[in-house]
Amino acid sequence: MQFIKSKGLFTFIILVLVLSACTSDNGRGKIRIQSLSDIDQAIQAMTLEEKAGQLIQAERSKISYSDITRYNIGSILSGGGSVPQGNTPEAWVSMINQMNVAALKSSSGIPIIYGIDAVHGNNNVKNATIFPHNIGLGAANDPDLMRAIGVATAKEVSAIGVDWNFAPAVSSAQDIRWGRTYESYSEDIQRVATLAAPYIEGLLSEGILSTTKHFIGDGFTTFLTGEDNNLIDRGDVTMSKEAMLAGNLSAYVAAIDANTSAIMASFNSVNGVKVHGDPSLLTDLLRTELQFDGLVVSDWEAIHAIAPSLNEQVALAINSGVDLLMQPNDWKEVYKSILYNVNHGKISQERLDEAVRRNLVLKFEAGLFDGELLRVAGEIGTAESKRVAREAVAKSMVLLKNEDILPLKKNIKVYLTGPASDHVGVQCGGWTLSWQGETDPNLNHGISLKDALNEVLTINGGELVSNPEDADVIILAIGEKPYAEMHGDTDDLSLDGPLSLADNMKAVKHAQTLGKPIVTVMIAGRPLLINDFLDGWDAFVMAWLPGTEGNGMTDVLFGDKPFQGTLPFTWPITNEQASHTLNMESYDLVKHQFKFGAGIITR
Ligand code: GLC
Repeated sequence: MQFIKSKGLFTFIILVLVLSACTSDNGRGKIRIQSLSDIDQAIQAMTLEEKAGQLIQAERSKISYSDITRYNIGSILSGGGSVPQGNTPEAWVSMINQMNVAALKSSSGIPIIYGIDAVHGNNNVKNATIFPHNIGLGAANDPDLMRAIGVATAKEVSAIGVDWNFAPAVSSAQDIRWGRTYESYSEDIQRVATLAAPYIEGLLSEGILSTTKHFIGDGFTTFLTGEDNNLIDRGDVTMSKEAMLAGNLSAYVAAIDANTSAIMASFNSVNGVKVHGDPSLLTDLLRTELQFDGLVVSDWEAIHAIAPSLNEQVALAINSGVDLLMQPNDWKEVYKSILYNVNHGKISQERLDEAVRRNLVLKFEAGLFDGELLRVAGEIGTAESKRVAREAVAKSMVLLKNEDILPLKKNIKVYLTGPASDHVGVQCGGWTLSWQGETDPNLNHGISLKDALNEVLTINGGELVSNPEDADVIILAIGEKPYAEMHGDTDDLSLDGPLSLADNMKAVKHAQTLGKPIVTVMIAGRPLLINDFLDGWDAFVMAWLPGTEGNGMTDVLFGDKPFQGTLPFTWPITNEQASHTLNMESYDLVKHQFKFGAGIITR
């Protein structure tokens, strides 16, 4: 659907005139909400059609402004990589303002709320600061840093006119063959809980709503049970519900205590029952036991897997506890299905009104009824967000071997080799500009490891040399390709596995022939199998997925900052150990490459 193209100032002036007219009275739908106590009365004044529209979240590229008006659509999202033309803050703000012009003209006049995945900074918009993915933040294990990241992220989400972030994930991955391991802070749920809460508080402190996800058990699915032939993603939790809850609940308790705005239901099933259709989890556990009274949003078309027909899917999801349906493509059919189900008594008026109420409360919390609907573009990629991200990179680095070679002197000659040497797309990983991340080494901004090394060496009399014979030290940079979700599932964690960078082994072998000390830096979304090579390396550093601020890596490599990171995951020797975590019995009796919590701390 072709949206009105933003034409800069002219559009902005028109928007100011129209939005200010609409936010007064003329030309605007009937609902006015000035306090939470107005919501019940508002609901009573709404028609079934207006209520049904509020339970719909459509994808921006699959709906027109006139549809938003006609169907009283409650929410819009961007799927990974779905951006307005130009992908600048101005383009985002213009798009969202025009959506709200359309929403205010609907019969209800209720504004839309826009949601995005800003899971490591505002990774949707060009030139935003990309922070380390959660696995690196799990290694940093610094709650104060998490709050600062939440604040910095919120500012760059707000800068594009968006109010709602689908983060944090509080998955506690138990098998690193899962493609979403890097979205998990740790295999240890206590470390997850400790880090998620301050991040939520940081977002909320800047007026950006949070979404704790994916409720519940997403990191506990069993290998080879994945949905749609995935190896593990969206699979089945086959342990007892009690054991699964013991490994997940405390993160949700911490998130609810931190006033998380919303919770996203999880694709996975528990003992064969899909979470999206399980009222014992989405209602009995979440509402009655955990006392969560915020909004539950479904995941991307997840309801399609819970019942045979769309009408049955919609009824089961809403009756199980879903309040907002993330149905990017078939939103119109889902809208009609809500009407059908209510008119045929499959969804009660009480349940419908309860879901509408949670949507209106969410919008109230976002300040959408404050009358200040017009968004103005802000700054992204700020010096402050880069500073926080650089600190996060440094704190996330884990030193796992050091034969008295780190920290490096700044006046030495370095020969840098390996496929992760000069690749900001690899450093950022998935959920960066596009859903699966960027394979273009140049991305369009950011500091690669090579850039950072060059900067430090050049100004200190050192040098990146092209001939290894001239080098004092070899730096070998290896890792993984960018990937997201099920596309990152693998049964092969070796350096030449399907998700490893193609030239890893070529670089490892090349480095071995050079007869110089080797410092290996791994840039990957999870531990990879290195047992056959570690003895040949004088130092080994895990950098995870550091993002755009690559100078955070050289801060610790040259000793300007100490190594303080510790492993948030057990490091396996073999693929079969991929599902070993500190939660297993006899953990200490098994030899792993490195144990959970390992890391050489320097001063
Ligand atoms: C995806 C993910 C979820 C994300 C949502 C919207 O499938 O499971 O984490 O928030 O869709 O992009």
